Amino acid sequence: QEGAGGSGGKSSDQFSRYGFILAAIGSAVGLGNMWKFPYITGKYGGAAFFLVFIICLIAVGLPVLLAEMAIGRGGRGNASTSMVRLSGKKSWGGFGFISIFGSFMIFSYYAVVAGWTLHYAYLSFTGQLFGGADFGTQFGDFIGGYLPVFYQLLVVLLTAWVVAVGISSGIERFNKILIPGLVVLLILLVIRSLTLDGAGAGVEFFLNPDFSKLSPTAVLVALGHAFFSLSLGMGVMITYGAYVSKQQSLSKAALAVGFGDLLYAFLAGLIIFPTTFAFNLEPAQGPGLVFVVLPTAFEAMPFGALFGGLFFILLAVAALTSAVSLLEVPVAYVMEKWKMSRTKAVWMTAIICFIVGLPSALSVGGAVSGLTFGGKTFFDWMDFLSSNVLLPVGGLVVTLFAGWVWKDAYSEADLTPGWYKVWKFALRWVAPILVVLVLLISSGVISE
Ligand code: PHE
Repeated sequence: QEGAGGSGGKSSDQFSRYGFILAAIGSAVGLGNMWKFPYITGKYGGAAFFLVFIICLIAVGLPVLLAEMAIGRGGRGNASTSMVRLSGKKSWGGFGFISIFGSFMIFSYYAVVAGWTLHYAYLSFTGQLFGGADFGTQFGDFIGGYLPVFYQLLVVLLTAWVVAVGISSGIERFNKILIPGLVVLLILLVIRSLTLDGAGAGVEFFLNPDFSKLSPTAVLVALGHAFFSLSLGMGVMITYGAYVSKQQSLSKAALAVGFGDLLYAFLAGLIIFPTTFAFNLEPAQGPGLVFVVLPTAFEAMPFGALFGGLFFILLAVAALTSAVSLLEVPVAYVMEKWKMSRTKAVWMTAIICFIVGLPSALSVGGAVSGLTFGGKTFFDWMDFLSSNVLLPVGGLVVTLFAGWVWKDAYSEADLTPGWYKVWKFALRWVAPILVVLVLLISSGVISE
């Protein structure tokens, strides 16, 4: 069989061993770790939530992550055709397509938020962020205007360019440079935040659990976030898996990716909570946390413009490496389905994603923010439908497929017989049941 590389011949364009691990970490580590994780941790009780998140990541996230990688390598196709090949049943193509559509939707608004971070990096480095209007007003004015569209376009173009270059010289090379760079930036910022006066209270909030704050909803939010954070349910790891050589151990790769994702979330927490607490700010602020709360802290600290700029660059880099993976999913599909060249497929998909993302860019206080359905803006709907509905549905499809339908997963997963049993059990029972609960809560069928 030919790889998802389509015209690239017999999988000529594939990841190297470390290239695959870095690209998968690059996908996993994104706005989820740096932007979403801190504010939901703030909202759902701090350290106890973090602990539950770690358990979810290990007990449910890792098995599903391995399943996706294995499906991709076994099926050697996109997120839809891989399952068709492995099961011999056409009907799985439609289920697989759900996640491809989900990736497409996430990409359309993810590029918008990634654009915001680029603008904030610029504002911070040039000092324009500081000394003017209060940060809430500044953020509101920015996302209320047309400038976000410019940045959205920039992100889409950059992402498309990387994906168009291909797997090994595009996606792999991009991640090989940026992911290690990200660690350096993170460590620098962790040192800065831990040495602030009063940082201790933030460390305490983040790492000293108070279980009385934990609610059943918090547990399901943690699980949903473990999926989002590992890029599961969106066909990403299936698509990337199709470019992995048969010699590579997928179980080791999955472990490395899970650990990498956790490490980045941990470091992000060590930056954000000490900084927030040192300046007596509120950690349970919601999505505005990094754009509205943190600038207050950067303004007050020595060399704040520099550290603020670095922080937003970090956010942008993390977002870009995820955006690349999100775009690759529909691109791989288009290439295989319509026998299109990579370049053509990329630009066509990217243009459509940009257009579909426009109302998202303009609906957070901007020109079309008045256009709400059921109290949600376009942006909110995209986020809600993709992360709260399509993502758990996509995750469920994968667990059911790998747990019940695909018979010889054994040869791809390279686990010992004992671990294989554990893995199958997690995929057959633990993950689907929990994911259904997440789906019911996050889609609002059961209220919190
Ligand atoms: N994992 C990414 C993050 O944490 C988001 C993402 C979700 C990327 C699903 C790809 C697929 O930001």
